[in-house]
Amino acid sequence: MFKKVYNWIDERLDITPMWRDVADHEVPEHVNPAHHFAAFVYCFGGLTFFLVVIQILSGMFLTMYYVPDILNAYASVDYLQHKVAFGVIVRGMHFWGASLIITMMFLHTLRVFFTGSYKSPREMNWVVGMLIFFVMMGLGFTGYLLPWDNKAYFATKVGLQIANSAPVIGPYITRFLQGGEITGAQTLTRFFTIHVFFFPAILLALLGGHFFMIRKQGISGPL
Ligand code: HEM
Repeated sequence: MFKKVYNWIDERLDITPMWRDVADHEVPEHVNPAHHFAAFVYCFGGLTFFLVVIQILSGMFLTMYYVPDILNAYASVDYLQHKVAFGVIVRGMHFWGASLIITMMFLHTLRVFFTGSYKSPREMNWVVGMLIFFVMMGLGFTGYLLPWDNKAYFATKVGLQIANSAPVIGPYITRFLQGGEITGAQTLTRFFTIHVFFFPAILLALLGGHFFMIRKQGISGPL
């Protein structure tokens, strides 16, 4: 049955060469921990991507209950956490995953740095990586406000005041992020949209470029 469906699609779209290209690609010996144990450091990028998938999936389930307005946000998270079946697990995955993903991305960046993989011809992928880094920081910052409890609210105020202290552009950035003069209702809806639409879309586009370049240039090394 599966083979029949596969053949039907393959006759029309010739999909075999596409997945064969990925499936038949051999991992070089120097990045294979089965050959050299220290090569496990090459797993950090893939593990970061695994966590990206977990964050997106758990985040999609969170939005089934989360209500992005100041009267209901906290109560909706509280309800999800205490009343919804598996709610505590889904929220826990997203909450702990957020810290883990930053740690993993940092380890990946250290690996790339210490193996000198940012050098020619991979400079562009380093720059794309830096952009990914900033987007991930932005996801952490915007997500932190969403439960709308005291910790979330005042942490965001501190963050916005730090942005405000930047010379010349500071106040403009703060006003733009805040959606007005105070940290309030507009800020929450704005952070919500940035957190679930803008940044994830930018992240996926950047990751597309990241992976395209890795495939095109191959992994760096051996040292
Ligand atoms: C969500 C974040 C990220 C994901 C999912 C990701 C994923 C990956 C993956 C799977 C690889 C293949 C090699 C490996 O796994 O080590 C890779 C390579 C690379 N990454 Fe990332 N990455 C991320 C962030 C970054 C950041 C922040 C930087 C640097 C600022 C960066 C720079 C690079 C470079 C230059 C390579 C090529 C390395 C080589 O050829 O040895 N990446 N990335």
